[in-house]
Amino acid sequence: MPTTATALPPSVTPEVGRGGLPVLRVATPAVTAELALQGAHLTAWTPAGQERVLWTSQHSAFAPRQPIRGGIPVCFPWFGPGPTAEAGLHGFARTTPWRVTAASETLDGVQLTLTLTDAEVADRAAWPHPFTASLQLSIGQSLGVALAVTNTGPAPVTYAQALHTYLAVGDVRQVQVHGLADLPYLDRLGPGAQPPASEPLRIGGETDRIYPQPGTIQVADPVLGRMITVTSTGSADAVVWNPWVAKAAAMADFGDAEWPELLCVETANVLDHAITLEPGATATMAARYDVTPTP
Ligand code: BG6
Repeated sequence: MPTTATALPPSVTPEVGRGGLPVLRVATPAVTAELALQGAHLTAWTPAGQERVLWTSQHSAFAPRQPIRGGIPVCFPWFGPGPTAEAGLHGFARTTPWRVTAASETLDGVQLTLTLTDAEVADRAAWPHPFTASLQLSIGQSLGVALAVTNTGPAPVTYAQALHTYLAVGDVRQVQVHGLADLPYLDRLGPGAQPPASEPLRIGGETDRIYPQPGTIQVADPVLGRMITVTSTGSADAVVWNPWVAKAAAMADFGDAEWPELLCVETANVLDHAITLEPGATATMAARYDVTPTP
């Protein structure tokens, strides 16, 4: 049984999870959830009466220092390829164990805070800067995730970040994504800058897009009869990703037939919107997820 230095309320149980990874299991009348300490990675969030809202692959690795495929990977301090050829995709935060530094019950769930500092990162060669990152999760009928980063060093630091959320959907081919029409976007699959589409986004093939300056995003899911609303703050970009057939087949930790089950809607600050923090400064990026039934 893993232990944490912080006292946990009765609704939060430390357990040995899949692959031997330490996890916290949350169970209240309003919600169940699972959080891997590696990556401060929420792998399940299921409000009472709902099917799972976060998708996690049946083929994911659950192993030390390997990314988990699904849930909410915390991408930091870079997004995509790293600053050096050896650096893995999406930063070291998602593969490093975080510490639980606060845990309390709320009206309908729990609030957990996990912390990571540069001193706890095994390989800092690609990004050798002092920092403290804290992830606050408010887990209930709604989910709040806030990533705060403080520059604890003597010089300015620049980083990119994303809450790489895998939303579970009934069939990605049938969802409509509202809130992105009228925005130009960057198509990362080759075409580059694209004009606004003016209609709700439908997914009809591999999708890897960055939308700058999004507002609230809603994923309408006629198969599961629900709407997932993503409200972000401190975020200049939304990344929308689905691997579709060929990329799913090419990924070792992704089932060939799983791609219709998810849509990643990521709250992010990437590319030109990377954050620069002066010494002592803190910046927070947050996302809130609400699920409502639709007729
Ligand atoms: C998305 C990126 O956010 O993450 C994609 O836009 C990438 O380009 C995807 O393929 C998955 O990344 P990873 O490292 O988890 O396989």
